[in-house]
Amino acid sequence: MTTTDHLTAPSAPPAGPPPAAVGDWTPEELESNGRLLLKRLSEHFASLRTQPVTTDRSAKDIHQLFDEPLPRDPQDFAAVLDQTWRDVRPHLTQWNHPRFHAYFSNSSSGPAILAETAAAALNVNVMLWDAAPAAAAVESTVLRWLCEMLAYPADGDAVLVDGASLATLYALAAAREHLTGLDVRRTGLAGGPVLRVYASDQTHSSIDKAALTLGIGLDNVVRLPARPDGSMDPADLDARLREDVTNGYRPLAVVANVGTTSTGGIDPLDDIAELCTRHGVWLHVDAAYGGFWRLAGPVRPHLPDLAVADSLVANPHKVLLCPMEASALLSRHRDALTNTFRLVPEYLTTRHEDGGVDFMNYSLQLGRQFRALKLWWILKTFGTDGIAARLTASTTLADRLRSVAAAAPHWQVTNAHTPFPLVCLRYAPDGLDRTATDDLNRRIHHRVNAGHRSYVSHTVTDDGYVIRVSIGNIHTRAEDIDALWDELTAAARQEGGHL
Ligand SMILES: Cc1ncc(COP(=O)(O)O)c(C=O)c1O
Repeated sequence: MTTTDHLTAPSAPPAGPPPAAVGDWTPEELESNGRLLLKRLSEHFASLRTQPVTTDRSAKDIHQLFDEPLPRDPQDFAAVLDQTWRDVRPHLTQWNHPRFHAYFSNSSSGPAILAETAAAALNVNVMLWDAAPAAAAVESTVLRWLCEMLAYPADGDAVLVDGASLATLYALAAAREHLTGLDVRRTGLAGGPVLRVYASDQTHSSIDKAALTLGIGLDNVVRLPARPDGSMDPADLDARLREDVTNGYRPLAVVANVGTTSTGGIDPLDDIAELCTRHGVWLHVDAAYGGFWRLAGPVRPHLPDLAVADSLVANPHKVLLCPMEASALLSRHRDALTNTFRLVPEYLTTRHEDGGVDFMNYSLQLGRQFRALKLWWILKTFGTDGIAARLTASTTLADRLRSVAAAAPHWQVTNAHTPFPLVCLRYAPDGLDRTATDDLNRRIHHRVNAGHRSYVSHTVTDDGYVIRVSIGNIHTRAEDIDALWDELTAAARQEGGHL
């Protein structure tokens, strides 16, 4: 070493902690960890039918599994995955299980599972055209395809949102903006007329949440008693609209159903649309559940024409082999949504390009997931024929359950009116009054669920407490329906054994 070397030689790193880690996993790490996950998933699907559909652990026990300190040191992904498979997976309610029949049974499918990973990897934000050009184009195409599947006009406004609850909120906001003589967007509600929304008493509670959010108020959601098949009576609606107008209320919108939550009821859309036109009221149709069943041959002839709706919501995440979250909000009126929600501060202005779509202007959401990718992959890889075949298979399974129940002593199918694969069952042995029969069905329901082999939900209708069996998972087969029927009848014997 010469006497001048110290001027050019790199100085020794200062003593102290090692430099903080930077960057992500290497591409090789991503691939090897990804393989670990895919292996787990393939084992999961191979054994799904034999896994419990629900957990038997208490909330306290489950919280305890995750009651750990904030991790400061990096952990090996394989260990984290092990813990997930040990502590998370068994204590989920498995919505993708072939014996999950609660609420509205739905499916996640291979292309959607991979699409969610790809969308996260690409870290897409579909807020402005410039922020995600091809993603916005894919969303436009997917929305056009969804309109075609619903036979709904595709030349209006359309957007993918997280769920039907927010879609209905946005639709009612658009209806309000559409009202002549008001400018709520600019001046707010103060001093204006009292707005009212009309629906049957079978309409989903999301309409109430929309009303309380939009300043309409729960008292101004007029709920008309549904007919025995769960549908709205247009004559009642007409009478109520007239009465309210006479009393100074301003009817804002009617929310009609294609597939009510409790029993799969369908409102007479043509008659309701005619009334809405006559009274100058917006018609929003909640086809969150029923809309995409239109693909299934046995269901389609029973469905009304959706094109009469001023706005419409239909949920891919309920029917189209698509996991949460994906809901299509459509309006046949061009600019109905953008007139309501467009608001562009300086920092979000971009160059304007013909054909560019800024999806941030279609709802309240600015940053948005690339939800369309999973639908694009599902629709391309299964095709509508492939989806239709799977949906039709669910209707066949529902028919199987209906016919075995209808033939069994004391069992009733209380919603024979519905074309959807949603079967409401009630066990009604002779000699019990309504309260006792309700209690018996509640116990049967809870006993079935306590077995953790099948999972069903319930509702209360004019018939009383009924056990709801929704069939819509692509893994469900006849053996699962037969197993559920065995569990239901065994539970009825055990709970009603004293009869
Ligand atoms: C008929 C109907 N509308 C709306 C909703 C709300 O759907 P989401 O969970 O997508 O908000 C549901 C939920 O099951 C429903 O059954």
